[in-house]
Amino acid sequence: MTAKADRPTVVLGVSGGIAAYKACELLRRFTESGHDVQVVPTAAALEFVGAPTWAALSGRPVAHEVWETVHEVPHVRIGREADLVVVAPATADLLARAAHGIAGDLLTNTLLTARCPVVFAPAMHTEMWEHPATRENVATLRRRGALVVEPAVGRLTGADTGKGRLPEPEEIFALCRRVLARGVSGADLAGRHVVVSAGGTREPLDPVRFLGNRSSGRQGYAFAATAAARGARVTLVAAHTALPDPAGVTVVPVGTARELRAAVLAAAADADAVVMAAAVADFRPAHYADGKIKKRDGHDPDPVALVRNPDVLAELSAHRAHPGQVVVGFAAETDDVLAAGRAKLARKGCDLLVVNEVGEHKTFGSADNEAVVLATDGTEVPVPYGPKETLADRVWDLVTARFGAPAAPAG
Ligand code: CTP
Repeated sequence: MTAKADRPTVVLGVSGGIAAYKACELLRRFTESGHDVQVVPTAAALEFVGAPTWAALSGRPVAHEVWETVHEVPHVRIGREADLVVVAPATADLLARAAHGIAGDLLTNTLLTARCPVVFAPAMHTEMWEHPATRENVATLRRRGALVVEPAVGRLTGADTGKGRLPEPEEIFALCRRVLARGVSGADLAGRHVVVSAGGTREPLDPVRFLGNRSSGRQGYAFAATAAARGARVTLVAAHTALPDPAGVTVVPVGTARELRAAVLAAAADADAVVMAAAVADFRPAHYADGKIKKRDGHDPDPVALVRNPDVLAELSAHRAHPGQVVVGFAAETDDVLAAGRAKLARKGCDLLVVNEVGEHKTFGSADNEAVVLATDGTEVPVPYGPKETLADRVWDLVTARFGAPAAPAG
């Protein structure tokens, strides 16, 4: 089913965790952007946030039992009418009931009657998320086509931190919009692990100075967010970006080209695809000064000697973790763009090269981009000027076309 273009109907399931309060913000984002939202809390969720809050924010009555307004057969109607069901937060208990088809309340009934895309945004303590019972339940739900978002790492209830936090409502919302736009058959990266590098490395000269570049990281983040919405497990190796973590994406922060290389190669070991969108410094200062470099009156500054950094893309392409791994590179060019791109594709040895023209006022920091995607078989796919997400989705289409048989969804 694809979403109704005018006012998509979203079911917001809320289960009983402290993060239920964050679902109020998620609900507001849906309603303010033209979605009809039916909130279906569990009884435990109502211990955290009461029914009047959900009713007032959604403009609809809420129920959690199948016994209310029985003449409308809500346990069937709500699921059937939905264009998207999102459960946020999804507790370990809710995931277990959903995985086993236990349907004791309105939310779990709705999960059985819905035929639209279903997104679970789990939130729980790290031990519960890592417990084999939860791992198996998550694997079962993913195998059946549900999109179970990886929890974020951070502060949990009380003083502890770890994996298990609900991603930010704004990021869950962004993911849901992408899932809605793609419809039920859109999770074509389910079971795949993809690695994306983003941002720009910084090569330190002394404790306060570095050689850097103007990359904002937005194109790489667009690759990560779109892959997550298509069901992939995503590792995002991020060098100096100021962007929020996309929902469901594991972010590995790095600083220098050599740190980026180590993080990308480690994550690529079991990856189906690697997208090198980061602007990696080709050179770094040959010497790092432990103390701040001082000016000396009457002396010209010493020239900065540079040495070459490893070429991560070329290395990845030459030593693939497995023969089917798809490697995508970028070429930011200022002159004779296509010819330079073709030469770079051959030199780097990757499968696809996204070529775009850069300059003072182009691409960097912008939400839009245009590019030509060159492939080793000689094809050229132009992607007209538009959102960086659109370019990313087009490239993922080309990447999935290179994958063989569908993957078995991972736990
Ligand atoms: N790249 C890399 N390692 C480097 C430099 C670049 O992995 N040390 C990757 C980038 O992430 C990008 C691609 O290589 O995917 C192209 O980067 P670009 O800077 O355009 O190419 P260069 O190899 O630096 O070539 P040139 O400077 O000659 O244009």
